Amino acid sequence: MRLDQYLEKKRKLVDRALDRYLPAGNVPDRLVEAMRYSLLGGGKRFRPILALASCEAVGGSIDAVLPFACAIEMIHTYSLIHDDLPAMDNDELRRGRPTNHIVFGEALAILAGDALLTEAFRIMGEAALAAGVRQRRALQVLTEIAAAVGPRGMVGGQAADIAAEHSQADLPLVEFIHVRKTGELIRVSVRTGAILGGARPGQLRQLSRYAEFLGLAFQIADDILDEEGSVQTTGKLAGSDRRHHKATFPSVLGLPASKQRLRELLDQALEELSSFNKSAEPLRQIAKLIVARACVA
Ligand code: IPE
Ligand code: IPE
Ligand code: MG
Ligand code: MG
Ligand code: MG
Repeated sequence: MRLDQYLEKKRKLVDRALDRYLPAGNVPDRLVEAMRYSLLGGGKRFRPILALASCEAVGGSIDAVLPFACAIEMIHTYSLIHDDLPAMDNDELRRGRPTNHIVFGEALAILAGDALLTEAFRIMGEAALAAGVRQRRALQVLTEIAAAVGPRGMVGGQAADIAAEHSQADLPLVEFIHVRKTGELIRVSVRTGAILGGARPGQLRQLSRYAEFLGLAFQIADDILDEEGSVQTTGKLAGSDRRHHKATFPSVLGLPASKQRLRELLDQALEELSSFNKSAEPLRQIAKLIVARACVA
C-alpha cells in the first residue's frame, strides 16, 4: 500500500464533498468567502481520513461516513480560525496563508467559525434523518462528536491551554490540555468511522485506544514542530508557543524526551491494531507518518 496515494485519493474525496456542503445562495457573500477561504485552503484532512480509514478497517462502506467526516473537518477548521484570533494564539499564518482574521477581520473570522460549527451539526442532523435503519448509530456518532468538541473536550482543552499560559505547568497538566484540545476530536474521528462501519464491541475498544494514543501523539508532534518545524512543512510560523509561554511537551520535558514519548505512543497505538489485518494498514501508516514528521531531527 502506498500511503501518499491513499491520502491523496481520500483528500480529493473529502475536498469535493466539502465544496458541495458549503452554502451557495442566500448567505452574505463575505461570510461564505471567509468560510471557503479556511475550509478549502489546504489542510492535511487527517481527521476525516482517519474516520474513513477506520470504517475500512472494520470492513464498512464509507458512503455513510462521508458527511460525518466532512462535519468533523468543518469543526476542526472552526477551531483553527478561533485558535488563531488575537484573543487566543494571535497567529498570522495558517495552512501556508494569512489567517482568517488577517484577511477578513476579527468579526467575520468569529462568525465564519460559528457558521462552520453550526453547519457541521446541520449536515450531521440531515445525514442522521436520512440514515433509515442506521439512524441510531448516526445519532450516537453525532452526540459523541458534540461531547468531544464541547466543554468536556476541545473547548475545555482550549480554555485550559489559555489558563496555563505563563504558568509553571507540569506533565499531568500538559497531558490534560492536550488530550482535550486535540486528542478528543481525533478519538471521535476514529470512533465515527468504526461505529458507522459496524465495528464489533472489541474492535471499537481497540480502535478507541489506538486513537487515544494517536491523539496525544498528534499534539506532542505539533508542539515539537512548533519548535523545530519549517513553514514549508507546517504552513505555520514556528515559535508561537514559546512566544506565548504555552504549556507544551517540549517546555516541560525538553525535546529529546518529548520525541521519546512520541515513539512510545506510536508503539502503543500500533499494538492496539495488532489483531487487525491488512485493512488497518492505512491507520498504521498514518500513525507512523504523524510521528515521523516530528522526529526527523
Ligand atoms: C492543527 O491541526 C491543530 C492541532 C490540533 C495540532 P492539523 O495539523 O491537523 O492542521 P491542518 O488541518 O492540517 O491544517
Ligand atoms: C490547537 O493547538 C488546538 C485546537 C485548535 C483545538 P495549537 O494552538 O497548538 O494549534 P496550532 O499549532 O495553532 O495549529
Ligand atoms: Mg492554541
Ligand atoms: Mg495555535
Ligand atoms: Mg501548535
